Amino acid sequence: MHFEDQILEQGDLISKKLHLLSVQRFPPNARKNLRSFSLGEVASYVGVSQSTLKKLHLEGKGPSPQTSSTGRRSYTAEQMLELREYLDVHGRSDSRIYVPRRRPGEKLQVLAVVNFKGGSGKTTTAAHLAQYLALTGHRVLAIDLDPQASLSSLHGFQPELDQVPSIYEAIRYDDERKPISDVIRSTNFPGLDIIPANLDLQEYEYDTPLVMADKRSNEGKKFFTRISRALAEVDERYDVVVIDCPPQLGYLTLTALTAATSVLITIHPQMLDVMSMGQFLLMLGGILKPIRAAGAEVNLSWYRYLITRYEPTDVPQAQMVGFMATMFNESMLKNQMVKSTAISDAGITKQTMYEVERSSMNRSTYDRAIESLDSVNAEIADLIRQTWGR
Ligand SMILES: Nc1ncnc2c1ncn2[C@@H]1O[C@H](COP(=O)(O)OP(=O)(O)OP(=O)(O)O)[C@@H](O)[C@H]1O
Ligand SMILES: [Mg+2]
Repeated sequence: MHFEDQILEQGDLISKKLHLLSVQRFPPNARKNLRSFSLGEVASYVGVSQSTLKKLHLEGKGPSPQTSSTGRRSYTAEQMLELREYLDVHGRSDSRIYVPRRRPGEKLQVLAVVNFKGGSGKTTTAAHLAQYLALTGHRVLAIDLDPQASLSSLHGFQPELDQVPSIYEAIRYDDERKPISDVIRSTNFPGLDIIPANLDLQEYEYDTPLVMADKRSNEGKKFFTRISRALAEVDERYDVVVIDCPPQLGYLTLTALTAATSVLITIHPQMLDVMSMGQFLLMLGGILKPIRAAGAEVNLSWYRYLITRYEPTDVPQAQMVGFMATMFNESMLKNQMVKSTAISDAGITKQTMYEVERSSMNRSTYDRAIESLDSVNAEIADLIRQTWGR
């Protein structure tokens, strides 16, 4: 048997077996559910004290929480959003402080998570950020731009089984192009929609150079506007768009970067990773220059490096973080995402830290991971608010 026949056969075998495994673990038509949130979590995400929440409940105001047999109160994510509305309508302040949606004149924020180093934590970052922003009252659209569809599968969409369309349908060059609203799906987080990915996305990498070479067409020369043009169709529906980019510097990533208003570069603080990121920055700069000259608006409000999978007790890693800080302190997020088995374990069951129950894990491991994620995400939410001039 030839090599190519053999690998085709083995590829087929793997995908069949995996299919079986994942059908057993997660039936294709099962919608993901979302747990409820404790009084402490609600207080922290909404930004009020626990005693205020208890008082509201006792007075029968706002959404009423579920109470366990031991008297613990909990709220669904929907109820958390209702609470925000309630507090804004009945609060003392005239301005809406609990519902952080953008106001007239404030631009839709499009945040791209990039780095061509595989495994630098892009998808983990994008998923937790998108969910955090939704939990804190923003209207969020997550776009999975990686044909490998990791962000989609974290949200319960499995391209092999579900046959959900990707954003390729909304950015393709031919007559089959569809409105972007056709490819948007809701998730188990209220306030968070997603455009899942599948292998079709790869077509965009082949189509774009062909269309660019086509003298009769103007479309290819403006490939970099395709995501921003598609997003303009749903601009009113969202406050923030989070794009999870594939680990390569192809046309998909470039198109995302030129649609972006801000960029997060995820970096694991190790020598090889930092060297590879240096190469990435050089290539990116070299490519963006001619693209800007061709008329693209690469107008970022901000960009930041985010240290991921950080082990502060690992001396070489800590040194690498120090080294990066001396080079571009201003461009680094102050908070880092620590390495935690809680995050990787949650990932194995296709969940994020915002989905798993605290009781299902070692408490201190859970707390340390959530604390790190929340502080990173709160810092980013703050940058977004600053961009809106608040
Ligand atoms: N803070 C963390 N602690 C522990 N494990 C992590 C952490 N962040 C990410 N991981 C794990 O590392 C692996 C790679 O992470 P992730 O998929 O987010 O990277 P990526 O940059 O999106 O990868 P790719 O380039 O393949 O798209 C995953 O298995 C994930 O669960
Ligand atoms: Mg990824």
